[in-house]
Amino acid sequence: MNTKFIFTLSIVILATILSAAAFDSECHYLKRSPELFKRHETNDTCPCTVATAVFNSTVIGEVVFAQDPCGSTLVTGLFGDGLVDPETNCYEYLVVDQCGKLLYNLTSALNVTYRKDGTLPFSTVLHDLNLNCDPDGILLAESDKKRFQKRATGSNLKVQQNRQNYASAPIRSV
Ligand SMILES: *[C@@H]1O[C@H](CO)[C@@H](O)[C@H](O)[C@H]1NC(C)=O
Ligand SMILES: *[C@@H]1O[C@H](CO)[C@@H](O)[C@H](O)[C@H]1NC(C)=O
Ligand SMILES: *[C@@H]1O[C@H](CO)[C@@H](O)[C@H](O)[C@H]1NC(C)=O
Ligand SMILES: *[C@@H]1O[C@H](CO)[C@@H](O)[C@H](O)[C@H]1NC(C)=O
Repeated sequence: MNTKFIFTLSIVILATILSAAAFDSECHYLKRSPELFKRHETNDTCPCTVATAVFNSTVIGEVVFAQDPCGSTLVTGLFGDGLVDPETNCYEYLVVDQCGKLLYNLTSALNVTYRKDGTLPFSTVLHDLNLNCDPDGILLAESDKKRFQKRATGSNLKVQQNRQNYASAPIRSV
């Protein structure tokens, strides 16, 4: 098997493991020290970071996030299956931190068109979402699980069906 396949497979396995821990809501949000970002303040350039969220269980699909040097982010992807009966069910697409706190609601920006139990390809550029350009970058989101005194970094893409958690995948840089 080629390495691309094995890499994708390992992302999917990680997604499965991590999504099990994604629904803990007992936490608060921490900001990173702004000192980490001095480089970008003086340079005005963001790293060209690409991240993906791969769904391979309840929902089949992939969403790619690509940050440009100005800190705008292209969000593009496709869901091929698992969005059962979109005519009657309401789906939401949410970027959440490791504790489930909402960081960005993608639903209206993606404005997906449904096809069977999935979507047509979708694509949008967001100027108010970045990956790792400033302290609000979704890959840098830090959450603190109070009960366990454990810190978790990063975020997940969560799909909700009729306001209930339905599927979740970690957003990982590639
Ligand atoms: C997705 O899951 C199916 C069934 O578990 C598996 O056969 C397939 O190889 C997986 N796809 C990827 C890209 O990992
Ligand atoms: C600006 O930031 C980019 C991306 O991090 C880096 O490659 C480049 O060398 C920096 N330029 C200067 C003048 O610091
Ligand atoms: C996300 O946005 C959609 C569309 O604007 C809205 O219907 C939904 O209530 C929002 N969800 C959350 C959790 O804010
Ligand atoms: C959402 O998509 C529909 C169908 O593709 C289109 O008619 C509509 O203008 C779009 N809405 C927005 C706010 O982009």
